[in-house]
Amino acid sequence: MEKIVSLCKRRGFIFPGSEIYGGLANSWDYGPLGVEIKNNIKNLWWKKFVQSRNDIVGIDAALIMNPKVWEASGHLSVGFADFLVECKKCHSRYRADQIDLKAACENCETNNSFTEPHQFNLMFKTFIGLAEEKENVAYFRPETAQAMFVDFKSVLGTTRKKLPFGIAQIGKAFRNEITPGNFIFRTREFEQMEIEYFIRESDWGNSFENWRKEMHSWMENDLGLDKKHVHELEIPENERAHYSKQTIDLEYDFPFGRKELYGLAYRGDFDLRNHFKEAPYKDLETNDKFWPHVIEPTWGVDRSVLAVLTEHYSEEEDRIVLKLPFKLAPYKAAVFPLLANKPKLVEKAKEIYDNLRKDFMVAWDDRGNIGKRYYSQDEIGTPFCITVDFDSLEDDSVTIRDRDTAKQERIKIRDLASRLR
Ligand code: GAP
Repeated sequence: MEKIVSLCKRRGFIFPGSEIYGGLANSWDYGPLGVEIKNNIKNLWWKKFVQSRNDIVGIDAALIMNPKVWEASGHLSVGFADFLVECKKCHSRYRADQIDLKAACENCETNNSFTEPHQFNLMFKTFIGLAEEKENVAYFRPETAQAMFVDFKSVLGTTRKKLPFGIAQIGKAFRNEITPGNFIFRTREFEQMEIEYFIRESDWGNSFENWRKEMHSWMENDLGLDKKHVHELEIPENERAHYSKQTIDLEYDFPFGRKELYGLAYRGDFDLRNHFKEAPYKDLETNDKFWPHVIEPTWGVDRSVLAVLTEHYSEEEDRIVLKLPFKLAPYKAAVFPLLANKPKLVEKAKEIYDNLRKDFMVAWDDRGNIGKRYYSQDEIGTPFCITVDFDSLEDDSVTIRDRDTAKQERIKIRDLASRLR
């Protein structure tokens, strides 16, 4: 984990937030390379689950919703809370389910120092308008999901979708986590990709199974996670979220242990029933009105980034290689003139660089020797390095080097784009 965090900082994937002011506990900023991986993940997901399907549509809703949403959804009541204990001596706080309450405090090592567990709501509070009064209290959304329920009728009315269909959204969510940590694994501000897939109650088993497969396909085929590192955990009834009738956590072997990466839940008709007094869906053939049930596959964006970095980080003899799948890599190729002080080489290389950049993210490097430039690109996961040498000026060919095998071959400049594609 230390190696990943250090690589992220050194190469500009992710660094501590507000660092020049001493940081802000557990806040992280995505740098120039990190934002590319993150956007690649989000775009791939949107393409796979929204744009290439005709049964799912997207929305992008406001982060701050009417507080009545959170009353109806149960988030303001006991449902969305963790149990917290505090050390009476040093006032360190812990989640009661994550420590041994009979053990000494980890921070000050005092025995028998914990308070009785009490509930702590995770909603992030703010005020709308000037006056910080009770009636102006609002909350940052703790999940993107509720907007899909609240907007259900507007989406239905404007798209004329019929069951089964889904509403998808990517966006930020906020939770006042008691114990954030493990880099970007658990933070107070994070991003989710969620789908609420509306069905008839009788279809829930089939639909749940389909989504289970879709999520595995995403992890293996899109993120390139090894099946061996992915596990399913069926959540027992007493540990499930307040709305869920069945939940599976999809866990991943992170460097700090096996932990939740994504979730898949059958939420029944809990949410639509709470938001809509009248049944919001009418079957046009039978005229039956009812509250559709919902299957909810949910993906954390930041945990996806962390799993991808963990999975594809490798060390080989004297180099670090991020073996990212092509679609996730920040740069698809890097272009080098063999020597930076030969104007003809630089000019030819610039021409290739400018051409490829119309269709791909491409890096430029003309510093130091070629070996060092290769290693520098390997570390950030660039799949191909293209070197322009003196022969290139004669034969319109370049050397293209593969990140994973380190093999080099000559290729015509005109074939570069199709090769990358
Ligand atoms: N709408 C359902 C829902 O929000 P969840 O299991 O609480 O379910 C879904 O969250 C996903 O969001 C998790 O599987 C995880 O990937 C991500 N997530 C949740 N809390 C997080 C946090 N504090 N930091 C980073 N990611 C988080």
